[in-house]
Amino acid sequence: MTTTSYGPDVIFERQAGSAVSRNSGEPIPSGKGFGSVFTDHMVRIGYRAGEGWHGARVERFGSVTVSPAAAVLHYGQAIFEGLKAYRAPDDRVLLFRPDANAARFQRSARRLAMPEMPSELFVRAVEELVAADRGWVPPTDRGSLYLRPFMVATEPFLGMRPAEEYLFCVIASPAGGVFSGGSGAISVDVCHDYSRAAAGGTGSAKCAGNYAASLPALHRALSSGYDQVVFLDAARQADVEELGGMNIFFVFRDGRITTPPLRDTVLAGVTRDSVIALAGAAGHPVVEAPYTIEQWRADATNGRLSEVFACGTAATIVGIDRVRHRDAEFTVGDGGAGPITARLRTQLLDLQYGRAADVRNWVRAVP
Ligand code: COI
Repeated sequence: MTTTSYGPDVIFERQAGSAVSRNSGEPIPSGKGFGSVFTDHMVRIGYRAGEGWHGARVERFGSVTVSPAAAVLHYGQAIFEGLKAYRAPDDRVLLFRPDANAARFQRSARRLAMPEMPSELFVRAVEELVAADRGWVPPTDRGSLYLRPFMVATEPFLGMRPAEEYLFCVIASPAGGVFSGGSGAISVDVCHDYSRAAAGGTGSAKCAGNYAASLPALHRALSSGYDQVVFLDAARQADVEELGGMNIFFVFRDGRITTPPLRDTVLAGVTRDSVIALAGAAGHPVVEAPYTIEQWRADATNGRLSEVFACGTAATIVGIDRVRHRDAEFTVGDGGAGPITARLRTQLLDLQYGRAADVRNWVRAVP
């Protein structure tokens, strides 16, 4: 479904009587608390085939009501995005590459036969929510406001075809770090039985089902004391693909960096793309090439590999030091986050918080 039309009634109406946003004086939720506190408002936009996008408004955060026959509850037409708003030292509130999220949201919509939201409407919706809840954006360098745009099929219909009615919302949650460990690095469990994605499937779409499918492996990893799961390619269980919610990079002693190539089983992370650009500019060109788990273990053991890191919007950039692979464990480098990982993380955060020159035009101040 490729309609991009939206009518003149797509104007953002603020609900009368909505509370003034507040600056959160409480600790900013992090670690296990990530994503558990929500701001005062949300954005809601409807879509109906033949009518297009309609009824855009900012309203009080609250429950949404759908029919028990809503298609999303049965056939899973649900996609989402993740991006953040940062408070700069001069108090401007900045979005990082929201147009990249808008483009990916369109690609996800295409893959699930959902309507593509025009990019300018997506960005406007995000900006409207951030403007309404500006007071919730944490102080500079103390976290950010995590923004979660999503779209679900609301048409009450049990027949098998793409739904004709959808609900798009944006909600927001103040966020500190996703991982609470002190070393700046996480441990991972390499998964050899469950697959996250297969060729021709939905692995490159940010759809709810991919995350649901990754949960048993994540639950097992968490229960055995690991922070995340590394998924391998479904066909051979050999090539490293991604972590389910993050992409992965390998840094070698000779300064080379490699990351798994984008294919239909890997999500094209906005942070991944940003890291490739930043690393290249810093003299570490990133090679996008397949890398097997066996090679990872060999390179970690023989010392060729010095650092491994994961990256994503929620987690930013985080080192990976401990790896469980087939009931044995190996360590990358000296443990903790390595120097190149730390430098890339600082460079990225400096841009996101508006402390570094934005030569690529990635940062957008919310009016
Ligand atoms: C993000 O980083 O925005 C994600 O969508 C990952 C999510 C599992 C928290």
